[in-house]
Amino acid sequence: MSTPTAPFTDPALIRGTLYATADRIGQRTSALHRAKITGADAAATIAALAAAAHPTPTRVADIGCGRGTTTVELARQYPAAAIVAVDQSPALLAVVRDRLRTHAREINLVTADFHHLRGVLADVDVAVAAFCLYHSRRPEQALAEIGACLAPGGHIIAATKSADSYTTIDQVIAASGLDRGAISRPSLYEAFHTGNAEAAFAAAGFVLHRRLDQQHTFRFTDLAHLAEYAVTSPKYRLAPKLAADPAALAAVLRARLPDEPVTAASTVTYLVAARP
Ligand SMILES: C[S@@+](CC[C@H](N)C(=O)[O-])C[C@H]1O[C@@H](n2cnc3c(N)ncnc32)[C@H](O)[C@@H]1O
Repeated sequence: MSTPTAPFTDPALIRGTLYATADRIGQRTSALHRAKITGADAAATIAALAAAAHPTPTRVADIGCGRGTTTVELARQYPAAAIVAVDQSPALLAVVRDRLRTHAREINLVTADFHHLRGVLADVDVAVAAFCLYHSRRPEQALAEIGACLAPGGHIIAATKSADSYTTIDQVIAASGLDRGAISRPSLYEAFHTGNAEAAFAAAGFVLHRRLDQQHTFRFTDLAHLAEYAVTSPKYRLAPKLAADPAALAAVLRARLPDEPVTAASTVTYLVAARP
C-alpha cells in the first residue's frame, strides 16, 4: 500500500485503496473484532445516544456510513424513520443496500462528499458521523455542512478515536525493523480525535450536549493475527509483497520477534451536539 505523509486524509487514497472496495475495511474490522476484549459495541452505543437525544425522528442520516454497521442499528431502532446512508464510496453503499435488504428495510443511499451536503440532504433530525471525520483535513467544515442539513432541534452524534490508538502495534512493526518510522509518524486519527474533536464542534457552531469516552482493549492472539490488521493500515511503509499478503508479513515478523499476543488500546469518544 502506498503511504503518503497523512494517509488517512489523502483524497486519492481515501477514494482509492482505502474504500474503493469493501475488502480492506472488511478485513480490518474482522481482525479488530476478533481481537476486542473490552469496550462497548460502537454501533449500539451510537444508537443509544441517538435514542436519548431524539426518540422519534422523522429522518435519520448515517454520514460516512461505510459498510453500514451503524445504519443497520439505526434502522432497527427507528422502524418508522426515513433512513439515509451517505458515503462517497459507491462500493460501500452497495454493501449497505444489501445489508438493509436482508432486514427488509428500504433506505435512501446517497453518494456524496460530506464536505458538500447542502442541496443533498435536508431536515435531518439525527445525523451520525461515526469514525469518518478523521478522513477530513477540515473536519469543522464537514461538521458545518452536516449542521446545515439538520432540522430545527436536530442532533449530530460523532464518534472518533484517540490519537494514541493502537500504538503498541506501531511499536511491534518498528521493533521488527520493517518500518522503524512507524512509531514517530503522526496518528491516523490526527485530523479529528479524542483531544481535538470538541474544538472542531465549537468551530462549526455546535453546542455540545453530551460526551462519552470509552476505553477499548484489543488482544491480537499472535503475530499472524496482528499481521492481518497491520496490512490494512495505511500508516505502515511495508514492502509491497508484505503489504499485500498477511501470511508473508506474519512469517517475517515471526522470524524477527517472539510470536506472542499483543495488546493494544484505543479510546473511543462519542459527542452529541446541536445547533444553538
Ligand atoms: C472507517 S469508515 C467508517 C464507517 C462507518 N461509519 C462505521 O462506523 O463503521 C470511514 C467511511 O468514511 C467515508 N468517507 C471518507 N471520506 C469521506 C468524504 N469526504 N465524504 C463522504 N464519505 C467519506 C469512507 O468512504 C468510509 O466509508
